[in-house]
Amino acid sequence: MYPLIRNRRLRTSESIRRLIRETIVTPDDFLVPLFVVEGKGIKEEIPSMPNYYRLSLDLLEKEIKELWKMGLCAVLLFVKVDEKLKDNKGTEAINPNGLMQRAVKTIKNVCPEMLVMTDVALDPYSSYGHDGIVANGQILNDETAEVLAEMSVSHAKTGADFVAPSDMMDGRILTIREALEDEGFTNTGIMSYSAKYASAFYGPFRDALDSAPVDVANVPKDKKTYQMDYANRYEAVRETQMDIDEGADIVMVKPGLCYLDIVREIKNEVDVPVAVYQVSGEYAMLKAAAEKGWLDHDAVMLEQLTAIKRAGADIIASYFAKDFVKVCG
Ligand code: PBG
Repeated sequence: MYPLIRNRRLRTSESIRRLIRETIVTPDDFLVPLFVVEGKGIKEEIPSMPNYYRLSLDLLEKEIKELWKMGLCAVLLFVKVDEKLKDNKGTEAINPNGLMQRAVKTIKNVCPEMLVMTDVALDPYSSYGHDGIVANGQILNDETAEVLAEMSVSHAKTGADFVAPSDMMDGRILTIREALEDEGFTNTGIMSYSAKYASAFYGPFRDALDSAPVDVANVPKDKKTYQMDYANRYEAVRETQMDIDEGADIVMVKPGLCYLDIVREIKNEVDVPVAVYQVSGEYAMLKAAAEKGWLDHDAVMLEQLTAIKRAGADIIASYFAKDFVKVCG
């Protein structure tokens, strides 16, 4: 065929490359994770996440307005809970006047169109730093799912558009869906962290929320009995299919970069939107390398985000959302 066919013809100029480009990341693709804390005027940088902050509600308001102006239309909320309010059952999670509940109201008050998703899992509220209730050295499944359902209803009552269970208990999507239906929240969506791996890339996030599993006797030291083994691929398809059958509107693969084979596998198998979470450790790695002058921050960021979308992501949860808009928006 050569020289009649020369693949390089389609790469000769930026214009032809633009014309035939298959994958374009836009601000519409992003779900912006936000960390909320109690207090006033608080904007604390997370040490392992340079240029990423925990915000008190008053500054959250400002941030939301700024994000909306930048063309970012969806946020994913996490709260840092006071140590005194933590217990094994995550009781504070269903406080109608809890920080998460007030955060949703605050956002809906200043920017009703902003899509609000809330994290649903016990770890920020758990005295043991686990996503579920701990008993006899184990994480209780069904009892945890019941609390997650109550938590979801509580978030829906405050105006959350979607709840996002990130815990990996079995059957929790069905338990949550049924609870939402019973309470009349038929339009509240569920984005399930359906293929969430037990990953070492979550370290900076656990610093941000002070939510790492504690080191005490008879409490598991890691999350490997509920989050997936990163050696497994087909299990991710089964997990995801089950969550869809139970009522998940959006499914997710997490982390991102090391798991793009899983993203493609799932994208080929399912017909609901697929979200990918480019997690805190991925953010930290690039920030650190860029700080040292070893990588070109913006170029690598764009390459990574494009790769995530090319692999099949319909939604990208990423701490780079604002950086992306500043570079490309
Ligand atoms: C916990 C939760 C985690 C993340 C989101 N929700 C951490 C964990 O499972 O320990 C990690 C996100 C990130 O690293 O950016 N339910």
